[in-house]
This record gives sequence, C-alpha cells and structure tokens, in this order.
Amino acid sequence: MANVLVLHGPNLNLLGTREPELYGRLTLAEINERLEQLAAQRGAMLRCVQSNHEGALIDAIHEARTWAHGMVINPGALTHTSIALRDAITAVALPAVEVHLSNIHRRESFRQHSYVSGVALGVVAGFGWRSYLLGLTALLDHLEERA
Ligand code: DQA
Repeated sequence: MANVLVLHGPNLNLLGTREPELYGRLTLAEINERLEQLAAQRGAMLRCVQSNHEGALIDAIHEARTWAHGMVINPGALTHTSIALRDAITAVALPAVEVHLSNIHRRESFRQHSYVSGVALGVVAGFGWRSYLLGLTALLDHLEERA
C-alpha cells in the first residue's frame, strides 16, 4: 500500500472563500475528501496536513521519511520563496508532485519561478481542485511502476 503525505501551504486553509475566481469554491476539507476517495479507490493511505508556517511544513516533510512513499505538495506562496522547503524535499529523497490550483505561469511574474519544481517529480498547475487529483494519480502511478 502506498502511503502519501498531502501537504498544503500557507493560506490554503482559507480555500472556499479566498479569491474563489482564482482558486475555486471548494474548501480544503472538500478537496481532502476527494483526495481520500481517490486514495481509497487506489488502495493508498493519505495524511493531509496544512500549515501557515514554513517550519511546520518542513517538519512534516522530515517526518514523512519514516512512513511515506511520496508526497503531493501545494507550497502556496512558499513555492516562490523557500529554498528551505526545496532542501527539505531533497533531504528526504521522496518523490514529490508539486500542484497548484491556478496556472502560476499565466499570473504575475513573481509567481512564475518555483524553487520546488526543480526537485519535483512533476508539476500540475491550473486545473483548480483537479490539480490535486491529477497530481495524486501521477504519484500513485509512479510508485506502482517503481514497485
Ligand atoms: C498557489 C499559487 C501561489 O502562487 C499562491 O501563492 C498560492 C496558491 C495555487 O495553488 O495556485 O497560495 O499555490
């Protein structure tokens, strides 16, 4: 069975009411529920964590070393600022799929660089909540192929 950490970064706890024209109307709990449904269909186990704190996200990544086979991560704005988060992903050497609700490449120029993409297995952006499902599918396919 694949064990997967789903990590949501800063401000994603406000999904549902936060700029819905950009990020959609589903709450984080509803997105997690859809991910859980997909995981159940695929026989995978998820742990979903959200934090507004960079260090807490890094701690969750470190902890994942002991139980997870991979992670799906939406680092929020830390995507564009955090070398520490990137280093944490490299340090644990777990496959990580980076996901974004919005297409960061058609937004402000400061969102067009990601520190995470260079160490990610792949990136899914622009499909709203479906980005998470696509990201989880890609990760589980990758883990199955590798098994
Ligand atoms: C985001 C894109 C980031 O630029 C932004 O800071 C977010 C959400 C997305 O999912 O589209 O918080 O990661």
